[in-house]
Amino acid sequence: MDRELCELPGFQPVTKSNPLIRNYKIFRDREFYNFALSFFMIIARDIVKSFGELHVLKSISLEIQDGEIISIVGASGAGKSTLLHILGTLDKADSGFIEIDKIRVDGLSDKKISEFRNRHIGFVFQFHHLLPEFTALENVCIPGFIRGGSRSETTGKAKELMDILGLSGRLKHRPSELSGGEQQRVAIARALINDPGVILADEPSGNLDSNSAMELHKLFFSLRERFRQTYVIVTHNTELAGMADRKLTIRDGVIIQ
Ligand SMILES: Nc1ncnc2c1ncn2[C@@H]1O[C@H](COP(=O)(O)OP(=O)(O)OP(=O)(O)O)[C@@H](O)[C@H]1O
Ligand SMILES: [Mg+2]
Repeated sequence: MDRELCELPGFQPVTKSNPLIRNYKIFRDREFYNFALSFFMIIARDIVKSFGELHVLKSISLEIQDGEIISIVGASGAGKSTLLHILGTLDKADSGFIEIDKIRVDGLSDKKISEFRNRHIGFVFQFHHLLPEFTALENVCIPGFIRGGSRSETTGKAKELMDILGLSGRLKHRPSELSGGEQQRVAIARALINDPGVILADEPSGNLDSNSAMELHKLFFSLRERFRQTYVIVTHNTELAGMADRKLTIRDGVIIQ
């Protein structure tokens, strides 16, 4: 094996206790498998989740490359949001392994998980969850303040992001004074404020008319070009799903493609 390969950032030796070992045979050899893994931003193995008798996720395994845009589709109730919440550490799987940005996140303590989430993951939901009593700018800044960023640094970064997202004329507006598309762009700026490696979006355009939805979809791709984040987008919008680098379908608790 090449010495240079071992010295690459993210290289992890495979050991018997490493659950990733199960798949190494599809690669030329173990070392090459490790090398390939170093390009993945998200690795999930055998994710299982039930709510009582309802077995929602039966065994989900996926790898998502750094900088990739993945769409997740499936019927209502198939488990798309459940999977997204588990990948985003908002909910815990019953069993399974999750590594994000080279950090194994299943099994982290609640405090560590909140810290991890604040720094590594940005969320965009169908209902933007902006705080109504704060201005657009303040909403964008909040995760930055939670992280411990200074007022001037965080506000400067928020203004820069809002400018990129075409919101520089809306800094002082409250959410109720913004259009649906603008509210969603504020939510995206808020998701980006801490430079996360991963953006998880659940029906981001579910509440928008078709023109605003298309604009929002294009925005994800231009943001990826600019910041190189990895995007996982749950959607019923077939156009958005088809634009992604890869489309995964959940059915009967597993990924079928
Ligand atoms: N906290 C919970 N307690 C009990 N059941 C739940 C819980 N969360 C989700 N479920 C159930 O799990 C199943 C999957 O829900 P989920 O929200 O992941 O579906 P979805 O694919 O996102 O659907 P939609 O496209 O309608 O948003 C549903 O039957 C739902 O009722
Ligand atoms: Mg859902």
